[in-house]
Amino acid sequence: MNLAVFASGRGSNFSAIVKAIKQRKIKAKLQILVCDQPQAPVIKRAQASGVQVVLVRRQDFSSRLDFEAAVTQRLKYYEIDLIILAGFMRLLSPDFVKRYRNRVINIHPSLLPAFKGASAIKDALNAGVDFTGVTVHFIDEEVDHGPVILQQKIKISPKDTLASLEKRIHILEHKLYPQAINLVINGKRKPFSQGSKTPSL
Ligand code: GRF
Repeated sequence: MNLAVFASGRGSNFSAIVKAIKQRKIKAKLQILVCDQPQAPVIKRAQASGVQVVLVRRQDFSSRLDFEAAVTQRLKYYEIDLIILAGFMRLLSPDFVKRYRNRVINIHPSLLPAFKGASAIKDALNAGVDFTGVTVHFIDEEVDHGPVILQQKIKISPKDTLASLEKRIHILEHKLYPQAINLVINGKRKPFSQGSKTPSL
């Protein structure tokens, strides 16, 4: 089973996945990191772990279609079976989603469907809710939406600051993402049928 991680930023989830593979907690090969930001810290993490970096900058392509065609070409070349989004700050087109249906998973720092979007941790804190958490899900055409693979709650304490809550969310993410990846790899979590056959990559 060949994996690709897509990330645009810090890469702490990337490192958690690399660690889980090394410890044989995930039995798969991490073939590539796909990154769209040349300065992203995740690139250094990949280089340090010996993971091939595929840098694809959106501005080097005249359209999203061409950008995604370049990504697809690399996915085929490296025979990728499962795409793991880990802070990839670019929306994938409906065509891409359709092509890789049931083969792309995402992690989001809230209990979806609550608090979609890029500031989910802050939004949960500001909303004054008692609980937030982490969701791992298959993606579909809607942003931060699709069949849930794993979800875990975290209690928000009145003493929590954004920094303290972020820290606890990230610790949970690093535990939950490898578990969810394993469930998918072992065929223990499959998305509900959406009437479409999974295309082979
Ligand atoms: C994580 O909080 C994840 O839930 C969200 O993006 C963040 C990525 O963090 N999708 P990192 O780059 O893995 O540290």
